[in-house]
Amino acid sequence: MHYDDPKKRHLTSLKPETQALHANVVADPHTNAIAPNIVMSVNHSFSPDQGAFSAQGIDDVTDAPFLYAGWTNPTVRLLEQRLCALEHAEDALATASGMAAISGLFLSLLKAGDHLIISDVCYAGVFEFATQMLPRYGIEVSIIDTNCTVSVQNALKENTKLVHIETPCNPLLRLTDIQSLSTLLKAHNVLLSADSTFSTPVITRPITLGADIVIHSLTKFINGHGDVLGGVILGSKALLKPIRAMAGAYLGAALSAQSAWLIMRGMETLYPRMKTLCDSALEIACWLEQQPRVRRVLYPGLESHHQFSLAKQQMDFFGGIIALQVDDMDLIEQRFASEAAIFDYAFSIGHQRSLAVAMRTDDLDSSTYRFTPEQRARFCNDAGKGVIRLSIGLESPKDLIRDLAHLLR
Ligand SMILES: Cc1ncc(COP(=O)(O)O)c(C=O)c1O
Repeated sequence: MHYDDPKKRHLTSLKPETQALHANVVADPHTNAIAPNIVMSVNHSFSPDQGAFSAQGIDDVTDAPFLYAGWTNPTVRLLEQRLCALEHAEDALATASGMAAISGLFLSLLKAGDHLIISDVCYAGVFEFATQMLPRYGIEVSIIDTNCTVSVQNALKENTKLVHIETPCNPLLRLTDIQSLSTLLKAHNVLLSADSTFSTPVITRPITLGADIVIHSLTKFINGHGDVLGGVILGSKALLKPIRAMAGAYLGAALSAQSAWLIMRGMETLYPRMKTLCDSALEIACWLEQQPRVRRVLYPGLESHHQFSLAKQQMDFFGGIIALQVDDMDLIEQRFASEAAIFDYAFSIGHQRSLAVAMRTDDLDSSTYRFTPEQRARFCNDAGKGVIRLSIGLESPKDLIRDLAHLLR
């Protein structure tokens, strides 16, 4: 497979929709096949004088020979390069899941004595990993309202190494102002990583706003079909070099070629899929606000969202996830689970088909967040007793609204 086709060198001037389809894709030189090949081989033959035989020793993986799929593989590498084009990143490491990307990032960049700041509301797996496992390795973790730059500023310490945010965050759709936070952190020499799973590069490009690292669960919108797990860490070559060695090679986070190929195939339609489902989500969110059983709709595209002006500033669309508070959680949860015609009652987000799941404050508090009274009050302010999280798919919004009207009758 060739990555440097002279015919395609001007691709940076193309629109992102076109780049999503063409960046780094070239016809197979032996067969002229125009769809990317899948290379399943774990090993590649080499000559003993090739150099770099340790993952740590590879300075620029783009030019390094393929040796072993634990470090990189041609199909996985192609996915990484195509994601770099969309996120304006120099380098990327694709991983076996979104959690492998996040745990790999934390364990590669942090050591005993370092301090990590994470958001007081974020994906449960990240929260539990950071609060339950990292302290075992001597890493100090602070739980902060990262949506407020001043709160982060007040939480910074001499040993703070990394601030990890989700914007919008799961499940409350709060936003973090990437630009103002990155300005603050750069002044303190602290790295900023942004989990952009809810946004995708179609909506926000965190590196262009000053973030050092972007994380995606590729399992979600980027693959978009609910049939493969994957993740990615994107950033500068200098940051990715130790991450590739430690997370990729030593922790074994590498993505399989088969998964990479499937994700690439899903990614080809990312732009039209996102635009369609974002339009539907906005229409549905506006409709939900009018429903008598709905107490509150959390969606960054609504004027009622407390960060609507930030949303307009840093998001090109407002995403496919909506969270709503209802007047009778027991009844409505039961109806979603047993009566929904179109929504599947299931965890996860970002599939082509719409999903719904109830997330109760008490359950999250006892199993994941273990809030302080102040954190719980802030959470309840948005979520009340809990939210129904909707992940809008590619169905007609009219049909989704009919399904919701029945469930919210
Ligand atoms: C924002 C966010 N980041 C990371 C993850 C973890 O991704 P994965 O399920 O691919 O491990 C999730 C999963 O839901 C998520 O919502």
